Amino acid sequence: MYQIGIQKRGSMSRKKIIAGNWKMNKTPSETVQLIEELKPLVKNDEVDVVFCVPAISLGVAVETAKGTNISIGAENMFYEESGAYTGEIAPGMLTDLGVKYVIIGHSERREYFAETDETVNKKVLKAYEHGITPIICCGESLKQREQGITIDWIRQQVKIAFLNVTADQAKTAVIAYEPIWAIGTGKVATTEQAQEVCAAIRACIGEIYDAKTAAEIRIQYGGSVSAASAPELFAQPDIDGGLVGGASLKPDFGKIVNYNK
Ligand code: 13P
Repeated sequence: MYQIGIQKRGSMSRKKIIAGNWKMNKTPSETVQLIEELKPLVKNDEVDVVFCVPAISLGVAVETAKGTNISIGAENMFYEESGAYTGEIAPGMLTDLGVKYVIIGHSERREYFAETDETVNKKVLKAYEHGITPIICCGESLKQREQGITIDWIRQQVKIAFLNVTADQAKTAVIAYEPIWAIGTGKVATTEQAQEVCAAIRACIGEIYDAKTAAEIRIQYGGSVSAASAPELFAQPDIDGGLVGGASLKPDFGKIVNYNK
C-alpha cells in the first residue's frame, strides 16, 4: 500500500549498497587478515561495498582496503567536534583516517548505550557537516510488530532522524531497516515484510521532502541476511541492499555482495 510509481522508476537508478557490520568482532591484526581474505570475493562493480569495523581497527582497515572497491565505515561516532568526552570518537577523527560511512543508531547502541532518536539526529547532522555518509538504522521490536505499530514506530524514528537535514543531504543518506527480532536470530523477515517497511520508509521520505529525494535515497534491509536470502530481498523494488552482521565476517559475504551473479 506504500508503493508509488516513482519508486519503481527510481530503483533502476539506485546503486545497491551492501555493508558489513562487524560489531565488536576482530582485533586489528585479524581485521587485516579478514579484509585480505574477502578482498577478491567482494568484487562487484554494480554494488557499493562497505566494511564497518570497530573504531580501533579503522586505520588498518582503510590501509588494507586501499586500491579496492571496499569503503570503510565506523560503527558509531559522537556529535561533538572535540573536548571532554572520554572514550568517544569525533567525526574529524574518522575523516582524517579516510572513513567514508558511519552507522548511526543501531538497535544495539539504542539498547545498551542509551542512544535515542534525538542523539541519532544530532549525529546524522554532524556526519553531514564532515561529509561522512550516515547509515541510519531503524527497526521495531517483536512486541511492536505484534501490536501492529511497526509502520508508525518506524515513521517516527525516520522523521526525528531527519530533522533539519536538507533534501540534498537526505538523498545521499542510507537508511537501514533492521527489525530487532531478526538481528542475530537467524529469523530473517519475509521479503514481503521487508519490502513493506522499506516502501513505507521511502514514502515517509517523500512526505518529508519530495518524490525525487524519495527516489534517490537508498534503503537497506538488515537482520540475518545470508547468501541464501540476499537475492530475493535485494530484488524488491524498495530494498537497495543490506546491512549484514554475522555473515559479513565470513567468505559468505562475497556471495551476498555478488547476489546478482
Ligand atoms: P545479523 O546479520 O547478524 O542478524 O546482524 C544484523 C545487524 O545487526 C547488522 O547491523
